[in-house]
Amino acid sequence: MDNRKLSIGTASIALFAAVLTSCSARTEKSNIGNTGTKTAWGTTPDGQTVELYTLRNSKGAEARIMNYGGVLVSLKVPDRSGVLGDVVAGLDSFQDYLKPPPYFGAIIGRYGNRIGNARFTLNGVEYNLSKNDGQNSLHGGARGFDKRLWQATPLSPQSLELKYRSADGEEGYPGNLDVTVKYTLTDANELRIDYSATTDKDTVVNLTNHSYFNLSGEGDILAHEVMINADRFTPIDKGLIPTGELKDVTGTPFDFRTATPIGKRIEQKDQQLIFAGGYDHNWVLNRTGNGLEMVAKVSDPKSGRMMEVLTTQPGLQFYTGNFLDGTLKGKGRTYARRSAFCMETQHFPDSPNKPSFPSTVLKPGSVYQSTTVYRFATF
Ligand code: BGC
Repeated sequence: MDNRKLSIGTASIALFAAVLTSCSARTEKSNIGNTGTKTAWGTTPDGQTVELYTLRNSKGAEARIMNYGGVLVSLKVPDRSGVLGDVVAGLDSFQDYLKPPPYFGAIIGRYGNRIGNARFTLNGVEYNLSKNDGQNSLHGGARGFDKRLWQATPLSPQSLELKYRSADGEEGYPGNLDVTVKYTLTDANELRIDYSATTDKDTVVNLTNHSYFNLSGEGDILAHEVMINADRFTPIDKGLIPTGELKDVTGTPFDFRTATPIGKRIEQKDQQLIFAGGYDHNWVLNRTGNGLEMVAKVSDPKSGRMMEVLTTQPGLQFYTGNFLDGTLKGKGRTYARRSAFCMETQHFPDSPNKPSFPSTVLKPGSVYQSTTVYRFATF
């Protein structure tokens, strides 16, 4: 056989193999070189492909993130015996995320948590937002950033960048907002989330991530011990809107300055706990500056897992899954009331209507920037 024929034959086999590989990349799983792994995971109602990206660090920890909603679908970290376990609530298929989910793992925007009466005034103009929580607007409105397809770019096997442009007027908010969120799984078993945004018109912004954690993976979270470095919290009315007061936590069930099991005081006859059916409040973090500071710590005696929360944000919404009711199932678990908790780093709820709260206004020419780290260890 002459050499020319051999090389043509080899080339066609190589071409055939390449075509096969690229077909399977579209339908199945593709290893995208040195930038991690991506899998087609579903299709949006308007026909766009939803991808699931896997990040892995050198310790074997693994995070899965989809480009729809920027949802952290799973996060596997070791327990005290070194066994990896998934510490976030999630659903089994992309279709399950299309039913109104309680924001499992999602990026929340344009404004995290509630804006009272779904309106605010900026520069003398009243903006009416979409109402999706009684009279209020919650987590960006009927179709917030959690229900949008983001443009994903893997930056390395441990880092994924997501971009989304929120159009002027979307859900009632002024200004085109360009948002970038970067997830990084570091070798120190930290999930780091860097947020940035710019606008072309004055607007308000409050971005967060809505992961529901359970450090044992399943069961209730009442024995998890929580520390929150905050002397004050923002009390709420019966619609869960802050009253505007910054209340001292001393002598209340909201004092988590020393580590306390979640369940220890959650059933106390306290008006604030009764309004929310448990903890669902914003803590005013004790900060020494604007940098990344450790603000909360959660330890689970059962698994030996521990999570520290570091952030640049002024507030933390500690939510104990009071509205979960056992109807949602995923990962072989049933998401019952208080089977997971959230630590949403943020600006205070309803800030656009509370001039005394730190401002959430973003102007053209300025860059919104914030970082939150969920750091895992064992004890
Ligand atoms: C809110 C809760 C709400 C939950 C899920 C939390 O951030 O504070 O009141 O039920 O998100 O929607």
